[in-house]
Amino acid sequence: MPQPAPLTTPDNLPASLVEDYRRDGFVRVPCVLSPAEAAEFRAATLACDQRLRSLTAGSAAEKVFSQLLNVWREDPVIRRLTLHPRLGGIAQKLAGVKLRLWHDHTLIKQPHNRANTEFHQDRPYWPLLDADHPLSAWIALQDVPVERGCMSFIPGSHRVTNLVSQDLMDPRDLFRKCPELAYYPRVTVPLRAGDVTFHHAYAAHMATSNQTDEARVAHVVIFMDAGARYRKRADGAVHPVTDPLNLPDGARLDQELFPLVDGFGEGKKA
Ligand code: SIN
Ligand code: NI
Repeated sequence: MPQPAPLTTPDNLPASLVEDYRRDGFVRVPCVLSPAEAAEFRAATLACDQRLRSLTAGSAAEKVFSQLLNVWREDPVIRRLTLHPRLGGIAQKLAGVKLRLWHDHTLIKQPHNRANTEFHQDRPYWPLLDADHPLSAWIALQDVPVERGCMSFIPGSHRVTNLVSQDLMDPRDLFRKCPELAYYPRVTVPLRAGDVTFHHAYAAHMATSNQTDEARVAHVVIFMDAGARYRKRADGAVHPVTDPLNLPDGARLDQELFPLVDGFGEGKKA
């Protein structure tokens, strides 16, 4: 019988992957979850989607993906995934600074959805200050080949930090805002179940449409610097995580909604 592939942990993470992340702004880390863990978390995510999706149904973005935010607050199984010490520990090694959770979200692309998630950077959407190292862990909860909606990245684009937010339903928007990025190479990264791509919040990325009969289920965990603070967006745009908190500008984001990675796994048996 073939041996299962060894898991990647914060302790055995190859230094070359840290170098790749710092140079390119993204990296694929294989086998962060075992296939059994990925299957368990996929089933839990689909069950949450059934329960909660009616809350978000009907938006224009639904064609691209259906999105549930801060699912770890709703479901004890997903809480184990979002606060997984292996995941947070790897993110912290890549970033090279202490991190805390910003939020999670599940992104499900329905079968044959016929819509890419178009190129964009994440950071301009977020009302954050003192957050220079935020990154997302995009976790494949099943095999995600190109035709099921895997991610592509523009290496080096994380150094472009002066753009306003881009429309992820418009394939030209990023390139109108930064024409030179159209001439950078692009890298497409299919994943096996349990593999994770980590991308810097300024790294431009897109995902292909789902041309298969199976829903594409990805869970994304977003980390920010431990000292991050709240800053109202200059354009006044709302953010569903921070708006209900009514924070003053400059407030530290150190509530229990934003746990430190170093505390992940504590109280696991509770
Ligand atoms: C996607 O999975 O469709 C997009 C993910 C992202 O924008 O981070
Ligand atoms: Ni994104």
